[in-house]
Parts: sequence; structure tokens; C-alpha cells
Amino acid sequence: MTPAVIGRMSAGTLPGLAGKVVFNTGAARGIGHAMSHAFVRHGARLMLLDVDQTALGKARDALQAQFPAAEIEMCVASIADDRAVERSVAATIERFGRIDILLNNAGISMNKPSLDVTPEEWRQTIDIDLSGVFYCSQAAARRMVGQGGGVILSTASMFGLVSAARRAAYCASKAAVVSLCKTLAVEWAEHNIRVNAICPGYIRTALVDDLIARGALDEGVIERRTPLGRLGTPEEVAEMALFLASDAAAYITGHAMVADGGFTANGF
Ligand SMILES: NC(=O)c1ccc[n+]([C@@H]2O[C@H](COP(=O)([O-])OP(=O)(O)OC[C@H]3O[C@@H](n4cnc5c(N)ncnc54)[C@H](O)[C@@H]3O)[C@@H](O)[C@H]2O)c1
Repeated sequence: MTPAVIGRMSAGTLPGLAGKVVFNTGAARGIGHAMSHAFVRHGARLMLLDVDQTALGKARDALQAQFPAAEIEMCVASIADDRAVERSVAATIERFGRIDILLNNAGISMNKPSLDVTPEEWRQTIDIDLSGVFYCSQAAARRMVGQGGGVILSTASMFGLVSAARRAAYCASKAAVVSLCKTLAVEWAEHNIRVNAICPGYIRTALVDDLIARGALDEGVIERRTPLGRLGTPEEVAEMALFLASDAAAYITGHAMVADGGFTANGF
């Protein structure tokens, strides 16, 4: 993260985050890693999960080097494996005694003409981008119920709210995540669990860099189509997560909030 970016980010001022136990999926890179950085900066304790052990270890080590006093653990699992999710959540309870905030970040893209999508590709996208979010939410919420509440934030996408060609499985998954968040928000409000969806537009991460490199996305077209004229940064999404997880957002639940530079507001 560059000094210019860090200078724009909040530094430990949002209420109700210090000491909280955060379970963060997809934490090895991208938006997930930026969220780890943001929450640890606000005094949270972290359990990082990713399927990529090497990258996750590097991400954890980098955070620990920057915040030597922080409590940061990691577990390697696929969120598409419900039993591995349960084991990871149980390990978090064993280590920290609770889970206050679940960040459902892990996800994959699927950008391909719908006529060519194979059943395997369809299932893989739904398994990770939708079912994985449910498995993590359910496993964490079972603990949150017993501890008197919690917060669940799921990184859906602006493509959970609007659609685009060649993204059938991705858009379907992300729209379902938005709907899932609303259902869980209504159902778990009585347990003091707030559930919200985060809907980023195009954010500069490995996921988007890969699509640009493969010619599936045109960076110039995205910039011209986006009213703010640029892609977003992972840190800008992390700032929204901090707010939604904090007590500053205590009355916000069942909401899908965009950070997209105005992309979805633009009719052209
Ligand atoms: N980058 C964007 O423009 C953008 C826009 C909207 C939404 N999103 C969403 O934000 C989330 C993070 O995206 P990103 O851009 O940081 O992606 P990324 O590819 O940079 O990082 C995603 C991380 O998730 C991990 N992961 C993938 N499958 C997993 C699985 N089955 N179990 C555990 N971990 C797994 C990957 O190893 C990786 O570390 C995704 O859900 C994505 O759909 C991204």
C-alpha cells in the first residue's frame, strides 16, 4: 500500500471495532487482504482463511510484520467445502473464543459466453460465490447467536444489482448473495446479527487484472463508463466494510451498498 493510499484511509476512529474477532475469507490478496489491513489497523483480532496456502502465509506475515502486537491466525480451506468451513470456524472459536465479524470475501470470476459455459464451470461458480457464502454465514451465525450478536458482510458485486453479458453464473451468484443477505438480515435480527452486502464496481485486484490481461475486459472502456473515471482500489472497499461493521452502522441491516465510482447510477 502506498503512503498516498494510507493517508486517505481512516485510522482507528470507528466505534466498536477494537478487540473484535474477525473471520475473513479470501484473505490472501485483493479486497480480502485490504480488509485485513483495515480491521487490524482498528485493533481487531483476525482469523484469515483462503484456499491458497502460500499466498495466505505471505499475506499473514506481511500484516504481522506491520502490526507486531496484533493477533493474526490463518486457516487453509475452500469455502465451497461445508465441512472445512465448519472446522475453520470451530478452530476460530477454540483460538479466540468468539466470532464478532464475518467477512465473506472469497470468490472467483466467471467471464465467458453463456453458450459456452460448461456444467462444471457453472457449478464451481455457484459453489464458491453463493454456497460458500451461505456455509460461512451459517457456521458463524450459529456461534454469534450464542454470544449475543455479530455482523456479517458479504462481498457481492455491483453485478448482483445490474447485469452484463458473459457473466451468467457470476451475476446469478452475486444477485443471490444480495438476496441471501436480506433474508438472513430479517431472520437473524432477533439474534442481534446484522447482515449486509457490499457491492463493489471494478476494483484493481488480481481478479480484474487477469480479466484485462485475457482481453475479457477493456480498461479504457471501464474508465470511460465510470463517472469517477477510474477503477476503485481494494482499500476503498475496505473503508466501506469498516463502516458497515462498526457501531456507526448499528441501524443498518439487510442493505446492499455500492462502491462503484457511479457505474450503476450511470444510464449511458
Ligand atoms: N475486483 C473486483 O473488481 C470485484 C468487483 C466486485 C466484486 N468483487 C468480489 O470481491 C471478492 C474479492 O475479489 P478480489 O478482486 O479481491 O479477488 P482476488 O482474486 O484478488 O482474491 C480472491 C481470493 O479468494 C480466494 N479464493 C478463491 N476461491 C476460494 C475458495 N473456494 N475458498 C477460499 N478462498 C478462495 C483466492 O485464493 C483469492 O485469494 C470476490 O467475491 C469478488 O467476486 C470483486
